[in-house]
Amino acid sequence: MSNRFLEFQTQVEQMNERCTQGEISPDERDNLVRGMSLVDRTWGDIWMLSPKKEWFRKANGSKHWVRDYPSALVDMASATNVSAMNIHQVACMIGDCRQCSLHLERNRAVPGEGPTSTDVMLIGEGPGANEDKQARPFVGASGRLLEELLGNIGYQRADVFITNVIKCRPPKNRDPKPNELQACNDYLERQIELIDPKVIVTLGRFSMHRYFPGATITKIHGQTKQVGNRIVIPMFHPAAALRNPKWRAMIIEDFNSIPALVEEARTAQS
Ligand code: URA
Repeated sequence: MSNRFLEFQTQVEQMNERCTQGEISPDERDNLVRGMSLVDRTWGDIWMLSPKKEWFRKANGSKHWVRDYPSALVDMASATNVSAMNIHQVACMIGDCRQCSLHLERNRAVPGEGPTSTDVMLIGEGPGANEDKQARPFVGASGRLLEELLGNIGYQRADVFITNVIKCRPPKNRDPKPNELQACNDYLERQIELIDPKVIVTLGRFSMHRYFPGATITKIHGQTKQVGNRIVIPMFHPAAALRNPKWRAMIIEDFNSIPALVEEARTAQS
């Protein structure tokens, strides 16, 4: 871990401590944090460490704090290949990835976000325009529906890991090409391995086809498959559910099965 990281962490911890002790308000703490060297110079994002010692990031132009990691401070010296990287190194590598031509037109790559270990991982297709600006997955209308669906089952967005099969926005939101999916595959594999979710929810065609090649979503949505020690469940993409009330009802129903699936996977593993 670099000295810069440790200094950074110590400074934020001191701010948080002063806030916990009531010396300064959360707003004052945020202002102090902004005044410290915790701002990403390129993007203007701000990072904070919560009292629970979890890192949060607020992307420039966003009102929301999300769990993330200050990638500029990630020590990449020991990172030689993706299969040996930690989750922060994978995110960093994605941020700089030039393995396919999508990097030429992206604003920002979108690695994904969420806890470093969690029961549920959601895998969508790829970033749209909003995601490309904020480097966060599902921040537009689909994201709002996703948060509603999670709320229905007592989860918050920050409880699950959310990512995509493609980490950079395809121009005009076209479908990803096979070579682009291939270029992102190792990142997604490593994310799944590290997060180690009990349940994987695929959202839309492209993530479904990883586990159900050639399948049609209208036929197999909500039907689970055991993959190793995980349960995979394909669901409609939230954007599709927003367009079609029938599919919206189906995605609500499919989402409602998640807690029981987590329980089932837990029991099978114990
Ligand atoms: N649609 C996706 O599949 N992923 C996103 O991150 C946003 C919209």
